Amino acid sequence: AQIVDARIKRGAGGETHQTAGGEVPVLTTQQGIPVSDDQNSLKLGARGPTLLEDFHFREKIFHFDHERIPERVVHARGFGVHGFFELTESLSDITRADIFQRKGERTPAFVRFSTVAGSKGSFDLARDVRGFAVKLYTKEGNWDLVGNNIPVFFIQDAIKFPDVIHSVKPEPDRGFPQAQSAHDNFWDFVSLTPESTHMLLWVMSDRAIPRSFRFMEGFGVHTFRLVNAAGKSTFVKFHWKPKLGMQSVVWNEAVKINGADPDFHRRDLWAAIQSGDFPEWELGLQLFDEKFADQFEFDILDATKIIPEELVPVHRVGRLVLDRTVDNFFAETEQVAFCTQNIVPGIDFTNDPLLQGRNFSYLDTQLKRLGGPNFTHLPINAPKCPFAHFQQDGHMAFHNPKGRVNYEPNSWSGAAGGPRESPERGFTTYPAEDSGAKRRIRAELFADHYSQARQFYLSQTAVEQPHIKNAFVFELSKVETPAIRARVVSHLLNVDEALGKLVAEGLGLEPLPQAAPPARPIVTKLPK
Ligand code: HEM
Repeated sequence: AQIVDARIKRGAGGETHQTAGGEVPVLTTQQGIPVSDDQNSLKLGARGPTLLEDFHFREKIFHFDHERIPERVVHARGFGVHGFFELTESLSDITRADIFQRKGERTPAFVRFSTVAGSKGSFDLARDVRGFAVKLYTKEGNWDLVGNNIPVFFIQDAIKFPDVIHSVKPEPDRGFPQAQSAHDNFWDFVSLTPESTHMLLWVMSDRAIPRSFRFMEGFGVHTFRLVNAAGKSTFVKFHWKPKLGMQSVVWNEAVKINGADPDFHRRDLWAAIQSGDFPEWELGLQLFDEKFADQFEFDILDATKIIPEELVPVHRVGRLVLDRTVDNFFAETEQVAFCTQNIVPGIDFTNDPLLQGRNFSYLDTQLKRLGGPNFTHLPINAPKCPFAHFQQDGHMAFHNPKGRVNYEPNSWSGAAGGPRESPERGFTTYPAEDSGAKRRIRAELFADHYSQARQFYLSQTAVEQPHIKNAFVFELSKVETPAIRARVVSHLLNVDEALGKLVAEGLGLEPLPQAAPPARPIVTKLPK
């Protein structure tokens, strides 16, 4: 904005008064009452007490007092930007999802990148997973693909989520560490939870200290379903492949950057978009059927496993372009609510027990974080297609049903009767068949915790493997309890004996612990 010599007057105490006039609007209260003086509270005499009667002062302070809302319980630190998804190939034979029908069609998108463990004010280059949450405002409702930059996860069942997050957040008796995994509680939990081993290898790799959000992959992680108009289902894993390729920093750089510029990643994305250098990703799909799932050595419902790209290549079907920064950080980035249960006709869930738990958790936490059931009325969360329902009232309702009718079925015809069901267009759940006794149990194929960790480690280059070793040594050197260090090494010996020995050596751990007994035989061959 042009800086003008705004009309300045000095008050009796020398304070600055700038007055309205011409194009400059009049300052008002929230009730629209024009304000005459925003520099001085109402007093009895120039040096007297402030009067309770000063409604402008009280409204201003009251509103300020209520500015903060709870930060997200995880992924608190994030940065959101707008863009669009463009389909480059029609998938109408595989899914009826409207977004995947017409080649060349664009769908508005909002993406929020985040770290997981740190608080809202923590630094960008913590060694951590990055959230990659995408909201797609399709013509048949909002589809949220709430993913990460790592294709696997720490746990297999959502019932363990509070435990893994408690262990990684600041320890309750001391309130630190802020945003690092390097402490006893985290390593204690993961060493007692061998299903975390695969994820740990990724988190100790360079993927966890990305150069920029623009150089990261994204993954939907779970196996989902695509369902076509004939009702046929195909399993799918979603991938975002960055056009710029992948880049990371090294640990020494990460530490320095965090000190010099804790906003490094958000500044990078902001600057790129502001200068017209729009980051872009390709949407890739791994598509497979029941037959592949049945023959696969691992369970496709297990979020600690990938489907190797050598076995099921990633098929690219569209592009995501991020081309607009937010107008207001709070209204958009803070108030956006992603939810795995937001899916559209033609896309469906699987029984992945992590996904099933997530489908409950997001809406539940957002009811608290965003203050009630009407956060879908906020522009960032509202669908951009027509919508009509009979949900009403609650805090801050401003899209209540119009007219007399707020229930159905009802006797009124035409528009007066309000919205009706549509068996043709409406969402129908894929009728997957399941049976079995109700039990708290995990499927046996979930029990192989080392084979894919090993495959990941062996797939790393001669430059990257030492980075992983160094990260384990650095992080574990901060762990005070020797038994926890030894337990981590006992798992690493199953991943790769040389890696386990190098980490033990780096920690001065003697004697070398025994390898942890694997629950299932380790698959040593790499996928072809
Ligand atoms: C937030 C990803 C597992 C609960 C997020 C966000 C992402 C994400 C990207 C940030 C969304 C944003 O930017 O606003 C993932 C992935 C998971 C996973 C990829 C595993 C594959 C879980 C599980 C639970 C969970 C198992 C709970 C059972 C939450 C909660 C939030 C969150 C409560 C905060 C949401 C909010 O306040 O709006 N997750 N998450 N997540 N996640 Fe997850």
